[in-house]
Amino acid sequence: MKVGVVGCGAIGSEICRAIDRGIEGVELVALYDRNLELARSLSSSLGCMPPVVTIDDMIPAVELVVESASQGAVRDIVPQVLARGKSVLVMSGGALTDEKLREKLVRIARENGCKLYMPSGAIAGLDGLKAASVSRIDSVTLITSKPPAALAGAPYLEERGIDVESIREPKTLYEGDAASAVRAFPANVNVAAALSLAGIGTANTKVRVVADPTLRRNVHEIQVNGEFGTLYVKVENVPSPSNPKTSYLAALSAIATLKRIAQPLQIGT
Ligand SMILES: NC(=O)c1ccc[n+]([C@@H]2O[C@H](COP(=O)([O-])OP(=O)(O)OC[C@H]3O[C@@H](n4cnc5c(N)ncnc54)[C@H](O)[C@@H]3O)[C@@H](O)[C@H]2O)c1
Repeated sequence: MKVGVVGCGAIGSEICRAIDRGIEGVELVALYDRNLELARSLSSSLGCMPPVVTIDDMIPAVELVVESASQGAVRDIVPQVLARGKSVLVMSGGALTDEKLREKLVRIARENGCKLYMPSGAIAGLDGLKAASVSRIDSVTLITSKPPAALAGAPYLEERGIDVESIREPKTLYEGDAASAVRAFPANVNVAAALSLAGIGTANTKVRVVADPTLRRNVHEIQVNGEFGTLYVKVENVPSPSNPKTSYLAALSAIATLKRIAQPLQIGT
């Protein structure tokens, strides 16, 4: 499977390094980043030295594009890729909480016989949630707890003049549905998006955001109740070595998804 990567930051670089080290059936053939210098420097650090190309040149050369750039790239680049029959692995999954955009991308993918993959990202438990949602689900709750500095700059806090640096003990900053959480804390949007889309949607998935000065890791707890019983998952995420805002597990989940797509044997839900 020939792959092109759009976005050569923390996640894109990890994915490229993993393919360069060797993933059976996966070949890295093109890179793009609007910061061309970054793309060129990543390319020259890799043994396979993939060419840095434009999107127009990447699409005919690949079977799958990895989007590890931004929500803007999902809006601007992903429709063209799918329209030319090439699949996309989307890391900026928060963009897919926009129902109109999601429906448009799914329609284009269906019409052109290709797929849109959204990895689990920085959370776990989506396998169980997807299975459980075949039957009745009563509630899905995400509790995200982070060191206060990791939440700084969120629109919800800026609008209310909340200074997270002054928080001295664990404090719940936000409680609401995932749709509103996405607008309030866009940096957590990808986790809430994957959870909502795998389960009962953004309007029904509950999100709580906690600032906790005792933490060094970003912690996500997921609680699901339904006809199947209950599911509880807790992930304590180590930040990515090159971008502390991004959990290392997010890049690993993209690499695992690439392996899954390229392999005949599919394990898990
Ligand atoms: N799914 C998850 O769990 C999860 C977790 C963390 C981050 N993310 C998302 O994944 C994406 C990448 O994260 P990151 O930590 O690697 O970010 P990063 O800032 O380290 O790297 C992003 C790179 O993409 C490039 N870029 C941005 N928009 C572009 C565009 N329109 N065209 C071309 N290049 C563009 C930037 O120049 C930058 O080099 C972000 O949208 C982030 O929100 C998802």
